[in-house]
Parts: sequence; structure tokens; C-alpha cells
Amino acid sequence: MTPSPQQNPFAVITGASKGIGAEYARALAGRGYDLLLVARDEARLAQLARELETTADVRAHVCVADLAQPDAAQRLFAESRRHRHVPDLLINNAGFGLCGEFVSQPLPRLREMVQLNVQTVAESVRLFVPGMVERGSGAIINVASIAGMMPIPYVAEYAATKAFVLSLSESLAREVRAAGVCVQACCPGQTDTDFHASAGASASGSVGLQTTAQVVRESLAALETKRPVVTIGWQGTLTALAMRWMPRGVLINLAGRQARQMGRQQR
Ligand SMILES: NC(=O)c1ccc[n+]([C@@H]2O[C@H](COP(=O)([O-])OP(=O)(O)OC[C@H]3O[C@@H](n4cnc5c(N)ncnc54)[C@H](OP(=O)(O)O)[C@@H]3O)[C@@H](O)[C@H]2O)c1
Repeated sequence: MTPSPQQNPFAVITGASKGIGAEYARALAGRGYDLLLVARDEARLAQLARELETTADVRAHVCVADLAQPDAAQRLFAESRRHRHVPDLLINNAGFGLCGEFVSQPLPRLREMVQLNVQTVAESVRLFVPGMVERGSGAIINVASIAGMMPIPYVAEYAATKAFVLSLSESLAREVRAAGVCVQACCPGQTDTDFHASAGASASGSVGLQTTAQVVRESLAALETKRPVVTIGWQGTLTALAMRWMPRGVLINLAGRQARQMGRQQR
């Protein structure tokens, strides 16, 4: 995260067109970062880039990409290098979920989810980290989820993809911290975005919805203290405590019941 003397620091954000990704973009522009904003929705990205360049003294570049394609990580890496040799911060945020019985989910969507939430994240990290290590500075935020901390029936594959992200991030954080590179798994709870509608669910709000501003504020603050796993607010602390102390079977049943309910409410 150490900028060179003449340039603004540079961050790459995937899934920047809305929700948590757009919030990271606004927060980082406010801190003087030049940005590469990545997602599929060109109009939204362009509008956000204009907003950021108008309100902050930064450059915001747009990269329209479907990160669920097999070569997405290489393309992202190449696009990032067109702007800066090594970014100061990479935020792997793009992702989606599916709510409902695993055996009812369409195969192409399941494949797409693994490609986007898992494969592209792992390959991006693999491609971006060596430059950061060589330079002796840099940070990666992988947006996981509280759902990655346990198996959850009725969002089974989504929870499994986020468990992968959490595990990869925590291991990698240990491998690269001596080289001056910080890796964080950011684990929001239910957050007020379009995520639930796209997943075919309604946000339950049983313990209160988090805001994108809260998620991003706590994630960026934790980057300063180099915490490898970040849960958000009291809901995150409560879930982490429950996971430590409650019997696993009880916890999985409770989480599954809530996920099933959220899927039904949406229908
Ligand atoms: N909201 C929650 O309750 C919650 C909780 C925990 C974790 N999370 C995680 O937070 C991250 C952001 O989600 P969000 O809540 O901000 O949801 P969101 O509002 O639906 O935003 C999702 C972002 O991902 C992008 N995206 C989706 N598919 C993509 C693809 N194939 N290629 C490129 N970009 C793609 C979308 O952009 P385009 O459609 O323009 O491509 C959008 O910018 C996700 O990883 C999600 O799993 C969310």
C-alpha cells in the first residue's frame, strides 16, 4: 500500500458496478486512489467512473469483463498492467449466490459460480501477488462471506465457494506477510445490496442488514492493522462466537432453516 512518490496509489476492484464493490471504489477515490473498475455493466461502470473523477482528484478506468470466463484472470491481469506495473490494492469482490436446493440448480449457473467466486479469484491472486512480493508492498482483499464459515443447506454451493476464499486467503496471508504483502478475507453478513434478489432470495434481516458503507469502512480499517479475517459489526462477532461454541449440527440446521426461509419468501 505504499504509493510511489509521484503517482496516486492504484487499486483494481472487481464487481465495482454496484453494491459493495462500488462502495469500495467511492471510499478509495476519497483516499486518493486511481482505480480500475471491473464488471459487465458498462453503463454503470462509466457513470461511476465519471462520478469519482468529478468528486475526487483521481483517474478511474473502466474494464468491461465477464469474470466467469475461464481466461478472465489473465485478461484482468493484462488490463491492470496496461495502467500500472503492480497495483497497490486488488479487491476480488465480484460474486453471486444461488438460493434453493442444490439438486435443483441449473448446471451452467453452478459452473459459472465456481468459475467466478473461486477460479478467477485464485488465479488473480496467483498472478498479482508475485509483483507485490517483489516490490515488498501491496494488499489483496478477497470478499468472502460469513457464509464461508460453515456449511449452509439451501445455499450449499455458495457457502462452499466462500469457504474456499476464506481458507485460501488465510493461508496466503501467512505465506506473504513477511514480504510486506497483506491479504484479507472480508466476511460481511447480510448486506443491503442486489445480492439477495440475484440469488433468488430475500434478505432475512433477522439480525439487521449491514450497509455497504459499514462493510467497506471496517474492511479498510482492518487493512491498516493487517487482520487476515474480518467480520463486520456485532452480527459478525456474534456469528463467529456461535460458530466457536455451538454444536456444529445445531448451527447448520439453524443456518439452513434461515436460508430456506429466505428462498421461500422470494417466491
Ligand atoms: N450482500 C450480501 O449480503 C453479501 C454478504 C456477504 C458477502 N457478499 C459478497 O460481496 C460481494 C459483492 O456482492 P454485493 O452484495 O455487492 O452484490 P451485488 O450488488 O449483486 O454486486 C455484485 C457485483 O459483482 C459483479 N458481477 C457479478 N457477476 C459478474 C461476472 N460474471 N463478471 C464480472 N462481474 C460480475 C456485478 O457486476 P455486473 O452485474 O455489472 O457484472 C456487481 O458489480 C460478492 O462476492 C458477494 O458474495 C455479499
